[in-house]
Parts: sequence; C-alpha cells; structure tokens
Amino acid sequence: MSRLCCVLRGIDLKVCLFLFLIVPMCTLGIYIHGQKITYFLRPLWEKPPKPFNVIPHYYTENVTMENLCKLHGWGVREYPRRVYDAVLFSNEVDVLNIRWQELYPYITQFVLLESNSTFTGLPKPLVFAANRDQFKFVEPRLTYGTIGGRFIKGENPFVEEAYQRVALDQLLRIAGISDDDLLIMSDVDEIPSRHTINLLRWCDDTPEVLHLQLKNYLYSFEFLVDNNSWRASIHKYQTGKTRYAHYRQTDVQLADAGWHCSFCFRRISEFIFKMKAYSHSDRVRFSHYLNPKRIQSVICKGADLFDMLPEEYTFKAIIGKMGPVPHSYSAVHLPSYLLENADKYKFLLPGNCVRESE
Ligand SMILES: *[C@@H]1O[C@H](CO)[C@@H](O)[C@H](O)[C@H]1NC(C)=O
Ligand SMILES: *[C@@H]1O[C@H](CO)[C@@H](O)[C@H](O)[C@H]1NC(C)=O
Ligand SMILES: *[C@@H]1O[C@H](CO)[C@@H](O)[C@H](O)[C@H]1NC(C)=O
Repeated sequence: MSRLCCVLRGIDLKVCLFLFLIVPMCTLGIYIHGQKITYFLRPLWEKPPKPFNVIPHYYTENVTMENLCKLHGWGVREYPRRVYDAVLFSNEVDVLNIRWQELYPYITQFVLLESNSTFTGLPKPLVFAANRDQFKFVEPRLTYGTIGGRFIKGENPFVEEAYQRVALDQLLRIAGISDDDLLIMSDVDEIPSRHTINLLRWCDDTPEVLHLQLKNYLYSFEFLVDNNSWRASIHKYQTGKTRYAHYRQTDVQLADAGWHCSFCFRRISEFIFKMKAYSHSDRVRFSHYLNPKRIQSVICKGADLFDMLPEEYTFKAIIGKMGPVPHSYSAVHLPSYLLENADKYKFLLPGNCVRESE
C-alpha cells in the first residue's frame, strides 16, 4: 500500500522506507530506552561532584582506644560522648533490626519517626508500630514518633521527604539531644559499623560533620556494588544549627565505616512497596517492572530493578559498571547480629537470593 502511494507521488523507495520504518522504530527506541541514552551521556551534561577528602580509617580488634585515636591524629576523651541515632522509617523491618543490634552498645537514644504517607503520597500502614514487639530490646532507649502525611497529589516526593525530616528534628529535641552529642543522620539501610561509632564517641577533635563511606550492597550482602556510599553522616549536635539532612554537607569522609544495603528485603511484596514508595518512584516507567516473577529474577541476577544504567560521571565508570553486579562470596566483616542469627536472615547472605513470595 505505502509503496504504492509513494511510487504514485514519485518519492523514491529509500525515502519511503525511512519515513515508514526507520522513523517509527527510532521513536519507539527512544521511548523505551530514552532514559538509558541520557544516563549514558551523563559525562557530557553533568560534571562529577568534587571528590571527598577521605580520612583513612584504622581498626582491628585489641588495639587500645588511645592508640586508635592517635592513629587518626585525634586525642582520646576521658569519657565517651552520648550518641543519638535518628531515622525516618518506611518498611525496612529486618534491616532496622540488624542496624539497631549493631549500634546497640553505643547508642544513648534511638529516635524513629514514621509517617502514614510514603514520600510519594501513598497511604502507608504504621509498619513499625505493627512490629514494635520485635524491638523490645531498645524500648527503654526508644523515642518513637508518628506524623500524618499531607497527601498532596502530584507533588515532588522530595517535598514530603523534607517535611518529614523537619519533624525528625523536633523529635530529636523531645528525645533530649543536647550540644556536643553525636547525631547519626542516615537512612535505615545505611548502617555504620559498631567500632566506627565507638571510635567517634571516644576520640576528641574529630570533625564537626563527617560523612561515612559505606560499602554499597544491593539486595543482600551477596552483591557488592562499590565501596562508595557517602550520604550517611555524623554530627556534633549544635542547637539551632544542626538540621537533619541526607545530602552532602561537608568534604570530609571517613573510609570503610559500615554498610549500605539497598533493597535488602525478605519478601517480594516489600520490594514492590518500596519501588512505588520511594522518592525515585518515577523510575517505575512500565508496570511490568512490578511483576513479582521479574523482580525475583532480577534479584538473583544482581541486575537493576528499574533497568537503568549506573549513575556515574565518566564513560569508563559507566561501562565498567554496566550489566549485573558480580556475586560476592565474602561474608567476612558483616554486622555481627546477622551472622549470629544467620537462620533468621539467610536471605541477606551469599547464595540465598530466593525471596518469600507469600
Ligand atoms: C584480645 O584481647 C583479649 C582480652 O584482652 C584476649 O583474650 C584475646 O586473646 C586477644 N585477641 C587477640 C587476637 O590478640
Ligand atoms: C494519617 O495520620 C493523620 C494523623 O494521625 C490522620 O489524621 C489521617 O487520617 C491519617 N491518614 C491516613 C490515610 O491514614
Ligand atoms: C571494595 O573494597 C575492598 C577492600 O575493602 C576491595 O577488596 C574490593 O575490591 C572493593 N570493591 C569494589 C567493587 O570496588
């Protein structure tokens, strides 16, 4: 038909092919892979952030605190600082348990705020409240707060997130934080290692604000993406000045200070919830991304749930990280509660990618 019409109009076949085949195919290709193309070209449109000034981190068992502080160029205090751990909670019950058990010996108050709205404005049950009996061990040191969501349709999720962080500042004051106490600002799944917190509470002259460099894992401790998660930070609290934040706040970073385990869930339903709830939910561009069978297969491969390219700033880094994350067979230097309770948290250890599907 089309050939006929072209011939009739005297247009040659190549132009015809171009119009009716190549143009639609390119349009479809850009529609499906547009995001990949922009991500691949990131080095052209975005400068890399300024590199961190990384402080080397010294630790092994049985070295005295005095020597550890000295190795970092810091003095040792006569008594440790008080430490507050504050998180905004969504649905990460298992990771929260591992986090709190890891930090337990050194935390003065655990502060947790939970909303009945996700950052994307979807109603959410109070998951912590429903599971509170699993967390009896922190009860005497827990400040738990809830906040009603604003449920504004079509709003940028980062606005709801910022609103919840302001409420977390208020909850911290209720919890009794005071000047010079240490405050950990991090997501639930960004877990500083116990010895890191012990070092920072005992040493003097540590930076006022310090980012923590964490090992970046995906789905479980089987998939080590890189060693460069940087958003978690620790602050010497200053009334009226310190604000809870989750972006870059300083140039200094302490190396190898813990673990970031993204999408480390026990159940497929929890993956689906998180994919819809978190601030980057616009990444769910096609509804088949939420298909449980697809999610399970993506997890076992170490592939990307949103079929995206790595967020890197050089072509070398993008190409180096393309494709699935390689399997890691090391379960050395993980949170101790995880290894002590390996039966309960099997899904987080190498070789156990299959999740509960209910
Ligand atoms: C560490 O110190 C403890 C007690 O001081 C001792 O029992 C243990 O053998 C030491 N471990 C190593 C590896 O030196
Ligand atoms: C969320 O919580 C607020 C305050 O507790 C309440 O007024 C509101 O009805 C709740 N909304 C939903 C959808 O649960
Ligand atoms: C992360 O650091 C460890 C050493 O702590 C190293 O063996 C490993 O290769 C690094 N992994 C990546 C993905 O950079």
